[in-house]
Amino acid sequence: MYTINVNGTNYNVNADGNTPLLWVLRDILGLTGTKYGCGIEVCGACTVMIDGQAERSCSDDFSLSKLAGRKITTIEGLSPNRTHPLQLAWIAHQVPQCGYCQSGMIMTHAGSGDSNLCVCGTYQRMSEALASVNGGRNGGGNGN
Ligand code: FES
Ligand code: FES
Repeated sequence: MYTINVNGTNYNVNADGNTPLLWVLRDILGLTGTKYGCGIEVCGACTVMIDGQAERSCSDDFSLSKLAGRKITTIEGLSPNRTHPLQLAWIAHQVPQCGYCQSGMIMTHAGSGDSNLCVCGTYQRMSEALASVNGGRNGGGNGN
């Protein structure tokens, strides 16, 4: 049994300690906003914040047994009413296409993470949305 803190709530999780966080979130806690893309830390679809830093939840670095005392934030917990500045900018600029990569994109930019991949090629609209949030400056790291 492991206790992890997700979006401000402590959960007791009865699973193998080697289970990566992504599968804990989706299959055990039902937080399916975090997506499975590649499973090998490349695409960024699984990005969440851990202690405020964007991280790839499919990584073995964040398996269940390694998360005690860490604060995990998923797209569901980014804002209580979906009004985080990035979420508003994403809507205003109609960034998503299929949408699959987008929660990871938002979490990456919220937590200053690495670039993510978007199969649909939404990079231009994302760049515009980031510029609007950053007062006209491009936020960079937009998946190029
Ligand atoms: S699913 Fe984790 S980086 Fe692609
Ligand atoms: S919006 Fe479809 S993969 Fe990015």
